[in-house]
Amino acid sequence: MLEKIDALLVEVENFSSINKDEIEQFRIKFSGKKGIINDILAQFKQVPNEQKKEFGQKINTLKQAVEAKLEGLKSATTSSILFEKDDLTKPGFPSELGSRHPINLVKNRIIEIFRSIGFAVADGPEIEDDWHNFTALNLPEYHPARDMQDTFFIETNPDLLLRTHTSSVQIRYMEENEPPMRILSPGRVFRNEAISSRSHCIFHQIEGLYIDQNVSFADLKQTIQFFTTELFGKSKIRLRPSYFPFTEPSAEVDVYWGLNSETDYRITKGTGWLEIMGCGMVDPAVLANVNIDADKYSGYAFGMGIERIAMLMYQMSDIRMFFENDKRMLEQFKTL
Ligand code: PHE
Repeated sequence: MLEKIDALLVEVENFSSINKDEIEQFRIKFSGKKGIINDILAQFKQVPNEQKKEFGQKINTLKQAVEAKLEGLKSATTSSILFEKDDLTKPGFPSELGSRHPINLVKNRIIEIFRSIGFAVADGPEIEDDWHNFTALNLPEYHPARDMQDTFFIETNPDLLLRTHTSSVQIRYMEENEPPMRILSPGRVFRNEAISSRSHCIFHQIEGLYIDQNVSFADLKQTIQFFTTELFGKSKIRLRPSYFPFTEPSAEVDVYWGLNSETDYRITKGTGWLEIMGCGMVDPAVLANVNIDADKYSGYAFGMGIERIAMLMYQMSDIRMFFENDKRMLEQFKTL
């Protein structure tokens, strides 16, 4: 009896077919109601007790072999049927391509422009401590200019906050590196501001920093002019005196957008000029905070909001659109 099962096992192993009828016959022969397996099981009673264990195991092996074989043949036949029926010369199903988010498009473009003149990208944490976001940037505790950037503090630790600008990354970089340095710090920033079409509590910035010997305000101006020419195709800029605690002197940069269309009139309020970023020469006090010798080195810094630039480039009128994930808006950037 045991040898008979062994022989059947070999038969099962050797069976092969892609013909559906043959496979069905094989199934009936072994696992059908009156099939071999049931037949053997019926004889189980007559098996002497001491052989029952081995016998049982053998039947199980046979049963499993039949099931595995049927399963294997079934998938083989479905794939061969597919193969027969499919027209392999037919074009495939179109797969939809995603699109890049406009903020990323603009960010990458800005990085590309500055990379071409030697700037590298530096990264830092979004949850910052007071030192890197404020104090080291010449904004000590109780400095009134802290109010320029309404801050989200971390409730459980008064020393922690969500960074209000990526200038914090520049402090981290200056602490860890020696001049000369040329870096860009792109990233998300947070300010406790009311959400409207023009401002949001989360937005993106790119800031730049260049420290070396003999860096002058003229270098800053030329770099910015190179940037506006590359990005907007507009080379006419003006620098208006301004104030930032970490730069001295400080300026706002306006680019001459022109007055060629009604939109130009609207977005420039009839002046032709648009403010695009803040900048200035790094304050010696900031250099001292990060142990850079201010007698030997000087540098400039600038910072801009990516949303603002993107709104100008793509003529978008509401900053909230960047955060709503509306496919109708995102899909328009597919080819860019
Ligand atoms: N950190 C400033 C801001 O967030 C921007 C800035 C950067 C201004 C560098 C001057 C120099 O508003």
